[in-house]
Amino acid sequence: MAQPLVFILNGPNLNLLGRREPEIYGHDTLASVEELCRRSAEQLSLAVDFRQSNHEGELVDWIQEAGETADGIILNGGALTHTSVALLDALKGVGLPAIEVHLSNIHRREEFRRHSYPAQGAVGIIAGFGPQSYALALVAMSTLLHARPGLGQAGRAQASDEPHEAEA
Ligand code: DQA
Repeated sequence: MAQPLVFILNGPNLNLLGRREPEIYGHDTLASVEELCRRSAEQLSLAVDFRQSNHEGELVDWIQEAGETADGIILNGGALTHTSVALLDALKGVGLPAIEVHLSNIHRREEFRRHSYPAQGAVGIIAGFGPQSYALALVAMSTLLHARPGLGQAGRAQASDEPHEAEA
């Protein structure tokens, strides 16, 4: 059986990781976060498609693409987290299990970062662990997808009415 495919999508300014506000986001580059994700995914028997865009519409297109081809979505929407109803609607529209991640703990920063739109379309959120947030999200996604192989593209129609085990 093919490994479940997880899209890992990164929003605006995450291409600047490593030199962008390192006191908040650390010194790791996005390439090294991708490398960490690839190593973690391999251990978890997941396939990953790792992408970054500075454009909201492109992220919406990729979420819709995931709905056709993937089994789960891990999303760091960057600042769009706090503004984008479109990202939320896209997640709801495709109905795949989604996990929101952040490098920083958005709840101990400015007030405006405490609200997330995509969170309402996500199974859960992992924030504050730097690049490890992504690795932890992959562990959580693996639990969701391997426990419920039908949850992704092929089987989500029949699985959609049932709660995820993580929510039960
Ligand atoms: C971020 C947190 C957001 O508030 C911010 O706009 C980012 C990065 C994080 O990963 O900590 O761009 O998503």
